[in-house]
Amino acid sequence: MVNEDGVFIRQEARSLTDETLAWYARAVGRMKERPAEEVTSWWYQAAIHGSTEPPKPLYDQCKHGSWFFLPWHRMYLYYFEAIVRAAVVELEGPEDWCLPYWNYALNEEHASIPEAFREPQDESNPLYVEQRAPRTEFEPGINEGAILKARTTSDASATAAPNFVGPEEFGGGPNPPTRLFFGEAGQLELSPHNAVHGAVGGEEGWMSFPEEAAKDPIFWLHHANIDRIWAEWEKTHQDAPQPEWRNETFPFFNPAGEEVELTPAQVLDTIVDLNYTYDVIPAEAEEPGPEPSQPEPEKVGAAAAPAMSGSGYGVEAMPNPDRKVVGAADQKVTLAGSPEAIPVTIDQRAKEELKEASRESDPRRVFLNIEDIEGEVNPGTVYGVYVNLPKDPDEPTLEKHYAGNISFFGIERAREPRGDEHGHSIRYILEIGGLLRSLGGGEFSGDEELDVTFRPLRLKPPKGHPEAESFPAQPEGMQAPPIQIGRVSLSVG
Ligand code: C2O
Repeated sequence: MVNEDGVFIRQEARSLTDETLAWYARAVGRMKERPAEEVTSWWYQAAIHGSTEPPKPLYDQCKHGSWFFLPWHRMYLYYFEAIVRAAVVELEGPEDWCLPYWNYALNEEHASIPEAFREPQDESNPLYVEQRAPRTEFEPGINEGAILKARTTSDASATAAPNFVGPEEFGGGPNPPTRLFFGEAGQLELSPHNAVHGAVGGEEGWMSFPEEAAKDPIFWLHHANIDRIWAEWEKTHQDAPQPEWRNETFPFFNPAGEEVELTPAQVLDTIVDLNYTYDVIPAEAEEPGPEPSQPEPEKVGAAAAPAMSGSGYGVEAMPNPDRKVVGAADQKVTLAGSPEAIPVTIDQRAKEELKEASRESDPRRVFLNIEDIEGEVNPGTVYGVYVNLPKDPDEPTLEKHYAGNISFFGIERAREPRGDEHGHSIRYILEIGGLLRSLGGGEFSGDEELDVTFRPLRLKPPKGHPEAESFPAQPEGMQAPPIQIGRVSLSVG
């Protein structure tokens, strides 16, 4: 679809009333028929993201754990969309075909993958893949229409981050383009990006692994949504980061199969630079939401502080050198499916400082640092992180104590990097000042310790699921490949 200015409009997949998805399916089918060594074939396009096959030109290019995550995937989608559009036209479809996006956070109706990707479940459907999170005794399968929880799909911590550069910020920390899967992922890369990968892929499905993910046709709609959230953020944040970010070049193939290049500076404005934009679907349009006085469904947790209106990408506001550790846990924790809690002891001398820093009037931010994370493989499990969570919590209680989520897309690549990097751990940084205020009635309540709880965020059965009742109420007893967390600490600054 194009608007009156000839700008392509990417539409929300579950709100479509036209043939966009049907044409996507036909074009994907066409691309799958092309020989795998053709650069515009389905398999070659996916291998540009990642592959376990012997490398060919431009294989394994994806940028993760890095401030190049957002621009690289914008470029990747741009050329992919052009290649699909050319296939649509070849099949005599509409010349203004655009890649749809999947806005899983809009409401519960949108939080399962669109039917076109799971029905019919056979080879006649080019959008169906079997390699997605299956049903277990604890949760329904993705191809049964399982619903992703709002805490899994939340972009609250990303949109609340005032700056672009840094792992606690929107876009990720500085990294040369060859240094990948380090603990520099920005908030949008963590959630919803990594979380949705894990939730859709589960323990073994394609979406859980960088080398397989782009073979699942839903991958591209997930990334269009991530790109849309960035485009939205860019409306209130101008001035891109420093030249090392702006001027790095990345190669791709265009629909003619020729190698082409782009830099982040050339993709900053989707309309001006790339001639596309996104439609706007209000959350209330399809499902009457709660009364306006209640929080919007997609803004979950007290951590969802009001978005600070930054005027720039925050280039000036580099990490505060005075950031200071005010508490730490003295034990490690292993996550293997079931809930785990760990006490974080507050440093007595820093207690007052934490109290001050958690006040709204104080410009400092309070961070929960989850560090030295290691694991052999992405378990697919997404864990919600909660502060001072009571026992046997119900949904509203979970909501109230929610700090953010953690998931582990690419953790096996951190352990065994390509090239000459050595193995390393990853980390997550969640801002919790707003949460401490809301739990303590305006500021940190001055406890001796904070309890940090990790609980798996399970998939929910869709309405009418025949075995909806059979899934247990609490996740105790769930099992997943283990993840070790070496250090949990609190800092202000
Ligand atoms: Cu490069 Cu969502 O992956």
